Amino acid sequence: MSPDLFPVSLDPSSDDPEVQWMDMALQLAERGRARAAPNPVVGALVVREGRVVGRGYHRACGGPHAEIEALQGLQDVRGATVIVSLEPCCFHGRTPPCADALIAAGVGRVVVGCLDPNPRVAGQGVERLRAAGIEVRVGVRERASQLKNGPFFINQLQQRSFCTAKWAMSLDGKIATRSGHSQWISHQTSRDTVQQLRDQVGAILVGGRTARIDDPRLTCRLPGGRSPVRVVLSSCADVPLAGQLVQTAHQVPVWIFCQSVPDDREQALRDAGCEVVLCPASGSGIKPVFVLQELYRRGISEVLVEGGAQVLGGFVDAGLVDRCLVFVAPKVLGGAGPSPVGGRGAATVDAGLELSDVSWQASASDQLAIGYNWKH
Ligand SMILES: NC(=O)c1ccc[n+]([C@@H]2O[C@H](COP(=O)([O-])OP(=O)(O)OC[C@H]3O[C@@H](n4cnc5c(N)ncnc54)[C@H](OP(=O)(O)O)[C@@H]3O)[C@@H](O)[C@H]2O)c1
Repeated sequence: MSPDLFPVSLDPSSDDPEVQWMDMALQLAERGRARAAPNPVVGALVVREGRVVGRGYHRACGGPHAEIEALQGLQDVRGATVIVSLEPCCFHGRTPPCADALIAAGVGRVVVGCLDPNPRVAGQGVERLRAAGIEVRVGVRERASQLKNGPFFINQLQQRSFCTAKWAMSLDGKIATRSGHSQWISHQTSRDTVQQLRDQVGAILVGGRTARIDDPRLTCRLPGGRSPVRVVLSSCADVPLAGQLVQTAHQVPVWIFCQSVPDDREQALRDAGCEVVLCPASGSGIKPVFVLQELYRRGISEVLVEGGAQVLGGFVDAGLVDRCLVFVAPKVLGGAGPSPVGGRGAATVDAGLELSDVSWQASASDQLAIGYNWKH
């Protein structure tokens, strides 16, 4: 079974049935992970006389919302309870407002995981339900419901892409050997999980040196999977023309973020199908915040930053890593191999990035740690 890459801690000991149903709704929501963006992932249940009679989740942007899917095919839901992990919407977007559909269906009670951060909803969906005489309970598994929608919250509140940092390291904390060799540190099972991750994100980003040393493809090789846009950060767009990224740019987009580029190189990269994105000048290189804002402007809800150390260090120093996924393999590489995160680093332990809601899962002989940098 594929691991849940947005794990949230759910205390199974709760004897409140609405909490237990919300846990089911959150698990349903996860099924929409790969195709819901830029929309949120949402799960919903319809409960009548203590029995779940309808289930739904938001499968894909433009498709029915979770509540509508859960109501589908049910004859009479008057007085029923609807459990939904995110506040029902109250405006006409790609689909009509879900709050109106719930009112029209005559449901008696709605239980909401968390409010929608979108300013066009932000509590107004709940108000509309209450104004129609529906009982509403808000904030059941609130933090878990927000964490599940980390990308949607960051997109709405900060108008930038959500940033997931991912690396694979040895037990002694190295991402490559002293000669720069790094393929492969992690187990095949972990690398399969990375393919699942690539299918879920809109873009994947690496530094110029990783592009030159590793010559990666960064595509998604899952059957039916979708490859993310490949993004390279390189001050002068120094990405090998004969490398796999450039050679496949006509099939899967490659965006090269740089601060300057010689004319002939720019032309050659463009002819090969790459897009060269000139970034504002700054003494310390391209600012991570510019990268995340620009990616969001281009429709990317979530970017996977895969390294190497300098790039990861830049994003960590800027306080812009929202989620970390770290594979730890039972290997010891020793010597002067690089550690995963470079940059300026923390001066004191207290000043380091402390992740919350951390889960550890086995990934064959590796361990996968997932944690969040969540201040909302
Ligand atoms: N185990 C893993 O999970 C993993 C994952 C990825 C990489 N790696 C390994 O990591 C090693 C490479 O890491 P690294 O730290 O040496 O290099 P890196 O982070 O991959 O790339 C550094 C380069 O990225 C560009 N860059 C970074 N920040 C920039 C900024 N703010 N503005 C403009 N350009 C910026 C620059 O490219 P230019 O030089 O072109 O200006 C810089 O030289 C390789 O050995 C690779 O195999 C391991």
